[in-house]
Amino acid sequence: QKGGYKHFMLKEIFEQPRVITDCMTGRVDWQRKEVLLPELDALPVPKRLHIVACGTSYHAGMWGQTLIENWSGIPVNVEIASEFRYRDPILQEGDMILVISQSGETADTLAGLRIAKDRGINVIGLCNVVGSSIARESDTVIYTQAGPEISVASTKAMCSQMTVLTLMALAWARRTNALADDTRVNAITGLSKLAGQLEMELPRMRSEAQSLARLYSTARSFFFLGRGQCYPLALEGALKLKEISYIHAEGYASGEMKHGPIALIDPDFPTFALALNDHLYSKVKSNLEEVQARSGKVIALANPGHDLKVDHPWILPEAWGPLNAFLALPALQLFSYEAADYLGKDVDQPRNLAKSVTVE
Ligand code: M6R
Repeated sequence: QKGGYKHFMLKEIFEQPRVITDCMTGRVDWQRKEVLLPELDALPVPKRLHIVACGTSYHAGMWGQTLIENWSGIPVNVEIASEFRYRDPILQEGDMILVISQSGETADTLAGLRIAKDRGINVIGLCNVVGSSIARESDTVIYTQAGPEISVASTKAMCSQMTVLTLMALAWARRTNALADDTRVNAITGLSKLAGQLEMELPRMRSEAQSLARLYSTARSFFFLGRGQCYPLALEGALKLKEISYIHAEGYASGEMKHGPIALIDPDFPTFALALNDHLYSKVKSNLEEVQARSGKVIALANPGHDLKVDHPWILPEAWGPLNAFLALPALQLFSYEAADYLGKDVDQPRNLAKSVTVE
């Protein structure tokens, strides 16, 4: 069942190239470079979208927010389901809610869905488990096609959610006419290359993760820093490390460091940064220099041609624009996996956690 891998988590991380392909099967016209999502076309274009989810699915939603806003022009608000359900949110005519859940059974997310339905708001469910409660109760469901995820730590599900969110942003953009043709063509061409790029890179990523985990598993705390679309990835990197290795980790928007958290930096408090080649690279670089000025050690995911002077630059091959996240995500997952395995933790069944959180 583990297909020769030591843990389900590792197997599921390595399944991500196939997951990307499966998520797009039948949903992209590669020749015309168009997305086909009849599930979305059945509904009007939302005036405003509320994404509601928990944990890793919430991070995927945060990542998708930028794409949906930038490409389709639809305003998006992303919220943790346990907050959304108790704050009497303002939902107006034409608003829509997108609930994201791997299991489709998360109690808080299901409660958020029911609030929207009670108010007459259309609900889109983005789920992995066919026939789950969220899939059944949504007005329309889009399945992520990740296949069963056994490990408690969610990995390939996030990759599948990000893939579908990218397709959704493109599908809405077609209807709002907000996206330049060349961006659409670049995005779809980039998507067509992604699985192959990731497949090639995963073995190298694993050995890099292994050596870094050996060096850093004794740390008691970690920062994960990123900006823009790398900020949700930083949150996800920190969540993964906490969840399976029990090392305290905080995900932070790197521009916020100087507003307090930088006080924690010392030689024993390392930082794992996302410094990819995007429009915020130079900002992240200077945030990292501030960390280094306080003697903090830095591991940084970067692309070829970077000019960072950090302790451990970890070079990833470059994908198109926002699709670089699909290469950064497994690097973060593998780092946590290798740290937890090195420390002898129960990787697939971390203490105090369940795969589906069906109680609030
Ligand atoms: O099944 P869901 O996507 O609704 O689950 C949400 C969270 O419980 C889940 O992502 C959790 O944070 C994971 N264990 C993280 O690895």
